[in-house]
Amino acid sequence: MLAAMQTVDEYSRISVEPLAGALGAEISGVDLTNVDQETYAEIHKAFLAHNVIFFRDQELTPETQMAFGRLFGPLNRHSYVKGMDDYPDVFRIVKEPTDAHHFGNAWHTDLAYEEQPALGTILYGLEVPKAGGDTMFANLYAAYDGLSEGMKRMVDELQVVFTNANTYGKDAQRFKTGIAKDMTVEQAPTEKEVIHPLVRTHPETGRKALYLSTTHFSRIDGMTKPESRIILDQLAKHAIQPDYTCRFKWRNNSVAMWDNRCTMHYAVNDFPEARRIMQRVTLQGDKPF
Ligand code: OGA
Ligand code: MN
Repeated sequence: MLAAMQTVDEYSRISVEPLAGALGAEISGVDLTNVDQETYAEIHKAFLAHNVIFFRDQELTPETQMAFGRLFGPLNRHSYVKGMDDYPDVFRIVKEPTDAHHFGNAWHTDLAYEEQPALGTILYGLEVPKAGGDTMFANLYAAYDGLSEGMKRMVDELQVVFTNANTYGKDAQRFKTGIAKDMTVEQAPTEKEVIHPLVRTHPETGRKALYLSTTHFSRIDGMTKPESRIILDQLAKHAIQPDYTCRFKWRNNSVAMWDNRCTMHYAVNDFPEARRIMQRVTLQGDKPF
């Protein structure tokens, strides 16, 4: 009873409608080009509570999308994907019917190969297929909480080596499985590895979450790659079970904003005939601990 009453009173400026039990909520009653302090505080609260939030029917320019992002903190400039000519901190993700590869088409969290990965990502749907091209999300707090005490003790101790090579290395460009579409093999960056804990503590909520990103894994620190795969593949499989996920169907002018510190996401590649154009702003995060 008390919980129900608190839910009713929780938000006064916005409406928050959960999309699934695990994570995700659609927020309505807000124009993202005009967000005052109290409305920002409620959006921020919903973001931390639901891990990925969605907005419909927004009219965003690169400037107003950046301004909304800056309410949450400094923006990130992507190391390898070139931004728009006039807005280097904004980039467009375009999939033409002739493109086989789809940006984000594997479970991952953004920029896990960076020393300071993304806090959040704000994606705006400019032109989306009528059907297909959904984005799926998985709750990595729930994935951690769902482990046995024995497994938690084991993963709590592990550090993971992440790499930029799988998505931006020479082979990624050579075989066009990379996601920087304009990059040539010669332009591929040198391989870079970083180490992050397998279990991270969210700096704002204090909760523990698995830190998984299947496209960015190299290995568990101190183990061979085959040994690492036994553990990492099973954890990823555990984390993406339907009970921990939600799935967002885009419309033109929808916005999704996800928390990369406690979720993974997956861009579904099921729209061979259609074009899809998204506009992205990324929030700079801290070093995971
Ligand atoms: C991203 C991403 C998913 C999508 O922008 O980081 O993974 O559905 N996008 O476009
Ligand atoms: Mn992504």
